[in-house]
Amino acid sequence: MTKLMINTSSPYRVHMDRGLMDHMGALVCEDVLEGKSGDRHICIVADAFTHEKFSHRVESSMREKGFTVHKTVFPRGEDAKTMGNLERLLEYLADEGFSRSDMLLALGGGTIGDLAGFAAASYLRGVKYIQVPTTLLAAVDSSVGGKTAVNLSRGKNLAGALWQPSLVVLDFDALDTLPRDQILCGMAEVIKSAVIGDPVLFEYIYNDDEKDRDVFMRECVEAAVKVKARLVEGDERDNGRRQLLNLGHTMAHAMELCSDYSLSHGMAVAVGMRACARAALKMGWSRTDCFTPLDRLLKKTGYDLSCPYSPAQLAQAALSDKKRRGHTITLSVPIEIGRCDLVKLPVDRLEEFFAIGMDEGK
Ligand code: GLY
Repeated sequence: MTKLMINTSSPYRVHMDRGLMDHMGALVCEDVLEGKSGDRHICIVADAFTHEKFSHRVESSMREKGFTVHKTVFPRGEDAKTMGNLERLLEYLADEGFSRSDMLLALGGGTIGDLAGFAAASYLRGVKYIQVPTTLLAAVDSSVGGKTAVNLSRGKNLAGALWQPSLVVLDFDALDTLPRDQILCGMAEVIKSAVIGDPVLFEYIYNDDEKDRDVFMRECVEAAVKVKARLVEGDERDNGRRQLLNLGHTMAHAMELCSDYSLSHGMAVAVGMRACARAALKMGWSRTDCFTPLDRLLKKTGYDLSCPYSPAQLAQAALSDKKRRGHTITLSVPIEIGRCDLVKLPVDRLEEFFAIGMDEGK
């Protein structure tokens, strides 16, 4: 089993292995309760799919260790991240008499993690929660770092809290159930992590042909979580270098918005980081050509790298972001493979940046 420590203001471990869902009770007692028994309530928050596939395993291992297990199930997909569902979850915890020593367990992808995490951050002004990511995207990104949120009618993630989990448990069994497009989605974030902070990982992914899939996945997830951990530990509140994790995300979010969220996040990140690498090269920010190796790796991995929107449409969407303010936008740009920097771009140059990235400009 791999164990990584995330040294944020309240430190926690990430455990990675196969079969961990059958040992959740022991892991929680050991890691969250410092060896004490589980004589408390825990609420498993799942979606319809993860409930059916995995919750029985988590539930029986928690019961064995003395926990009183409750379950709440939400619809699958980003649409579940609503104030209505948050309220339902909070009311349920109150109805069941959850106290400050009780806890939540998010069993699912980013949607469930964000919803359960925000409920944990707000119930009784904060209770512990455990992330059990069941998608590659959640394993390498949203389950670590404490970003929790729901969507408002004016945009995604507009209400939320930074609230670190007390434990993250990645059971690789969960990744076996993922269709290819969801693996590709998560791999986009793995490749992003490599470009930001791990040139060895970049080479490793490129030369993956002969590798055992299990070993390959473990190496990728562990390396990507390490890159994320370094940045989160140094800038938990996301005021500085944590923003390097947003490589390709300005364009990706714009594409998602233009598609009315029919385009998946990971696919948009692949297109967005490729465009960013090209623009960074042409605008003289990169020290070496990151575009050529990234383009080669993304094509080899199997992404559709076309963008159906014009630079003007993308710029308009990016600038409509309700969380954005001021005359500049901060971009994470590749300097060389394994190193990105933050660059401030005047908002009136964003369309040009997208055009150059999409090879529609100079
Ligand atoms: N997903 C980027 C971050 O956690 O900061």
